[in-house]
Amino acid sequence: MKTLVFASNNAHKLEEIRAILGNKFDVKSLKDIGCNVDIPETGTTFRENALQKARYVKEHFGFDCFADDSGLQVEALGGEPGVYSARYAVKNGRQVTAGNKDDANMDVLLEKLAGEENRKACFRTCIALIYEGETHFFDGVVEGHIITEKRGDGGFGYDPLFVPDGYEKTFAEMGNEVKNNISHRAKAVEKLAEFLFFN
Ligand code: IMP
Repeated sequence: MKTLVFASNNAHKLEEIRAILGNKFDVKSLKDIGCNVDIPETGTTFRENALQKARYVKEHFGFDCFADDSGLQVEALGGEPGVYSARYAVKNGRQVTAGNKDDANMDVLLEKLAGEENRKACFRTCIALIYEGETHFFDGVVEGHIITEKRGDGGFGYDPLFVPDGYEKTFAEMGNEVKNNISHRAKAVEKLAEFLFFN
């Protein structure tokens, strides 16, 4: 069985990926290969950040590897928060604790969109794969819009503010099973899996 590193230590993401690729690949986490550094993500696009992480593993540990980077892009804000999605409040000078990070990020977003009629947004995931000497990218996008008040307590991140096209509920209201079928991440992972199974 081939070893493939997923440049992440997120237990939930690893479990999801292993359920899909586990028959064909021995999917290892960063911790599994002894990589304990916080790999720098200094890019200005999801693609750059994902590639940076995958390259780091290939260069320092020698394994074929894939890495992902995701975030929210809001049309009226020129694509913000984008690669700053996880640290949007901090970037905007707010005091943030581990416990209020998601709320603080959403509050900044709502303030920036106050009075704005164009609420179009999308979640995007990019996966960079370094495999048998070549680099490949897989993108997943889910289009939708940002509502004016948080709704729902499921999910994470910006889920209480995002209603995907074709639905009335936010990602935080619809339950993980529905969300995980239509999400940006699911779409990118599906493309990755298709590539790996047919190559
Ligand atoms: P990551 O690259 O998957 O760690 O995502 C970076 C950040 O984007 C997260 O910390 C969230 O703020 C935001 N984000 C990514 N995916 C989602 C999602 O499915 N729902 C809500 N927020 C998300």
